[in-house]
Amino acid sequence: MKIVLIGFMGSGKSSVGKLLSKKLDMEFVEMDQLILKDSNRESIREIFKKDGENKFRELEKKVAESLANKKNAVISTGGGVVINEINIDNLKKAGVIIYLETNFDKVKERLEGVNDRPLFQDKEGAVLLYKKRQPLYNEFAQVTIRTDGFKIEQVVDEIIKNLELIHTS
Ligand code: S3P
Repeated sequence: MKIVLIGFMGSGKSSVGKLLSKKLDMEFVEMDQLILKDSNRESIREIFKKDGENKFRELEKKVAESLANKKNAVISTGGGVVINEINIDNLKKAGVIIYLETNFDKVKERLEGVNDRPLFQDKEGAVLLYKKRQPLYNEFAQVTIRTDGFKIEQVVDEIIKNLELIHTS
């Protein structure tokens, strides 16, 4: 089985994914780290600055492709993975897509002072992005879990509960 976490920047995909993989004894895969490895750059910010967003999306698409047949892993995606539907087609093969839903105020609070999110530097642009992407996360998710107001452990337990429901139904 493969568990794929989607959601906006700051929704907790990485921290939730790490703990979830530990609890389920599965491998943890962070797409942004794989993208970085393929880019020959030092940071995601540098890829955006020197190569542009299109190049980043190209690398993201290749990484999603490479994960199509991945098994026994929890995959944390970047917030923009849903822009290209083909990414979701690849990631959902033999997997379940889980949307970590977080309201924008909470996202803003969590990303305060964080400067490695090139698409979150301009707050007005980020709100628009949030509004544009929300329907996509909803469309692609098989399970939606709210994260605002909950601790990482609670979110992880909620995910596990939902996975058990999927498997017993
Ligand atoms: C992006 C989100 C980032 C990273 C890149 C682009 C986006 O990942 O992939 O900066 O388009 O929303 P996180 O969602 O982990 O912040």
